[in-house]
Amino acid sequence: MSIVKESFVFVSILVLSSALTTTSAKYSECIECHGELTNLTQHRIAQKNCNMCHADHDVITQNDYRLKKPVNFLCLACHKNIAKGHLVHKHPISGDRDPLYPEKKFNCVSCHNPHQSKMPKLFRYDYSKETTPYLGEPCALCHGKIYGLPANLPVPPRNVYGD
Ligand code: HEC
Ligand code: HEC
Ligand code: HEC
Ligand code: HEC
Ligand code: HEC
Repeated sequence: MSIVKESFVFVSILVLSSALTTTSAKYSECIECHGELTNLTQHRIAQKNCNMCHADHDVITQNDYRLKKPVNFLCLACHKNIAKGHLVHKHPISGDRDPLYPEKKFNCVSCHNPHQSKMPKLFRYDYSKETTPYLGEPCALCHGKIYGLPANLPVPPRNVYGD
């Protein structure tokens, strides 16, 4: 990561933290019940900062999983450069329908796990050559046709705990 990008992310963290975090001390409360999420090996920012993105259980929000804002708003607050074009020029980063889970919107977490993942870059789905049909290609999850994969492959689990 370049110095410019790094300091940019850092400033964004400060801004977002003050805007969204009620208190990160709540973390110890959260993991009394959500112990599965303590092994956050990759998205270090999500460690100990549950309330940066989630409201408490007794708070009602407009968003699924009681997120404080819609997913992409949360992510782009820090990762602003992504909005300029991600993966390939003009690849959509939002939409009404996730091709793998059509009942969900298409957004950052259609491809990334917000908390942790065993795959590089927090990619949400296992695409290993050895253990999945996806040939080691993350793109093959949704564009399987291009890789000659059959259309009726079982949809992989959404892997929220990254294991
Ligand atoms: C960077 C923002 C962010 C942070 C920080 C964060 N989460 Fe999440 N979390 C999300 C998003 C986005 C989703 C929705 C994922 C999806 O749509 O599949 C989610 C989903 C969840 C879910 C629902 C999983 C399910 O499928 O039922 C739980 C539980 C959860 N988070 C707990 C936590 C806990 C506990 C922490 C702190 C250790 C935490 N989160 C930190 C963004 C975050
Ligand atoms: C007393 C135990 C307990 C504590 C403490 C707790 N949770 Fe939960 N949480 C649960 C259980 C059980 C579920 C699954 C049932 C449900 O969806 O309500 C859940 C579900 C969730 C979900 C996904 C379900 C939804 O609302 O869509 C999120 C996100 C979440 N918790 C975040 C948090 C965060 C953040 C904290 C700390 C501020 C926290 N939890 C503290 C027990 C707890
Ligand atoms: C408060 C700032 C902040 C927010 C909000 C945030 N991130 Fe990050 N993210 C970071 C930082 C800092 C890093 C680099 C260090 C690390 O991996 O934790 C990073 C790293 C990443 C990486 C690269 C991981 C790797 O292995 O190189 C991905 C992918 C990512 N974030 C996706 C997301 C998604 C998706 C969301 C929204 C659910 C999100 N981020 C929200 C600050 C943030
Ligand atoms: C269609 C799938 C997809 C969507 C949607 C998507 N990403 Fe990614 N993202 C990827 C893949 C694949 C990589 C790894 C690319 C690589 O290594 O060249 C990646 C890499 C990243 C990285 C690491 C970049 C680096 O230089 O290390 C960050 C940060 C990130 N994504 C954030 C986001 C955010 C924020 C959103 C939502 C605004 C988002 N992504 C939406 C698939 C996606
Ligand atoms: C989670 C699903 C998902 C993954 C993974 C994914 N894409 Fe996409 N991709 C989409 C969706 C949705 C669209 C827009 C609708 C369509 O064309 O099917 C799209 C469109 C595209 C387009 C056409 C863009 C345009 O200008 O119209 C290209 C090229 C593309 N993807 C390449 C990639 C590459 C390269 C990767 C891997 C790095 C990738 N996609 C991974 C869902 C995905």
